Amino acid sequence: MSSDRKISSIATSSYEADPEQVHRVLLLYSGGLDTSVMLKWIQDEYEAEVVCLTVNLGQPGEDYEVIRGKAMQLGALDCHVVDAREEFAREYLAPAIRANALYGGGYPLFTALGRPLIAKLAVEHARSSGCDTVAHGCTGKGNDQVRIEATVATLAPELKVIAPVRSWQMGREEEIAYAREHGIPIKSHPTQGTEQEAPYSIDDNLWGRSSEGRWIEQLDHPPEDDVFQLVTRPEDAPETPELVELTFEKGIPVALNGERLGLVELIERTAAIGARNGVGIVDHIEDRIVGLKVRDIYEAPAAAIILPAHQELERLVCTIHQNQFKPQLDRQWAFLVYAGLWWEPLRGDLDAYMDQVNERVSGTIGLKLYKGHARVITRASANAVYDASLASFSESGGLFSQAASPGFLELWSLQSRMAWRLRNE
Ligand code: ARG
Repeated sequence: MSSDRKISSIATSSYEADPEQVHRVLLLYSGGLDTSVMLKWIQDEYEAEVVCLTVNLGQPGEDYEVIRGKAMQLGALDCHVVDAREEFAREYLAPAIRANALYGGGYPLFTALGRPLIAKLAVEHARSSGCDTVAHGCTGKGNDQVRIEATVATLAPELKVIAPVRSWQMGREEEIAYAREHGIPIKSHPTQGTEQEAPYSIDDNLWGRSSEGRWIEQLDHPPEDDVFQLVTRPEDAPETPELVELTFEKGIPVALNGERLGLVELIERTAAIGARNGVGIVDHIEDRIVGLKVRDIYEAPAAAIILPAHQELERLVCTIHQNQFKPQLDRQWAFLVYAGLWWEPLRGDLDAYMDQVNERVSGTIGLKLYKGHARVITRASANAVYDASLASFSESGGLFSQAASPGFLELWSLQSRMAWRLRNE
């Protein structure tokens, strides 16, 4: 049966599938246009069976029964729906919080954190369903292909990968034509747009939502209102500020306004509070791994509250030296994760440091949210390297000798003074 396969091999790497070897494919299926067309296309072009996997990472507004039904209707052998929210929060978001993870100064990495988990689950389900190949819907211009394929190639050298969007040379119009021709329902997915208008390219999960494409590609085009589907526009947010308190234990938020919550629920509730106050919008230019620069509109209301709160608490319990050092490692951590190297041992090495520092990051931070801003206003921690009586301008009872200061600063400024003199003599 292999001789009349329509597709030919143009593999440039060891893990890309030779069409002859593709018999059963695990497809990462979202229910959107690309992966629905792909589901049919793989069956036709490769004459292969397709098993679908849909992963719930907390993206709002999905009906997983509908997605599963659609996959089965389009000929999938099976469609597994996995609720991975707990694992995502515990194994991916918790370390990100400890590392204050932001890429490029503004992107809290929700997609970058989700992809290695999705790809790890793809490997597990490919193995248990007897698949030889993993297929995904990422383009050849983005970061997500890197994150998924690096994960599959690392965890499962025996599996091959196909990425039809990179090779099938169908634009949106051709995909819609293909869908019509093959009885694939369009428009049943919220982010799919209409037949007339291309949608934004959306990706979302518990930790945030990104929009790319359309006018976002014009750098001088200010955000249009319809892009904000998660966060209230700051100008429409309530006139009265809202206060929130986050309690952390060892760097992980464990209570919201005094109520103890599991991490998933805590993030969901914090996101809702942030969203209604217009918090978490980022209009971001970023350097992709593949060399391109891209503009993203992010809505990440939970991250915009939890990360600054965590960072504030960390600053309070750490010394000046730790506070000077850790941001360098935070940045390295964020870059590795952005760049698709979740499984790189350096990430684990960095995590060991993050965990060690976060042993003492316990306490409560209060923030005031108002029309798009989240500002820390109160702090409390038993581990704070802080003594109000020392810091006070009033007398500190001999604990801090102001008389010693002139001697200290004579030595502290010694080299700078010598260098100044040499340059100005
Ligand atoms: N620029 C972000 C990143 O690289 C978001 C990507 C969103 N992915 C998507 N398929 N729309 O992580």
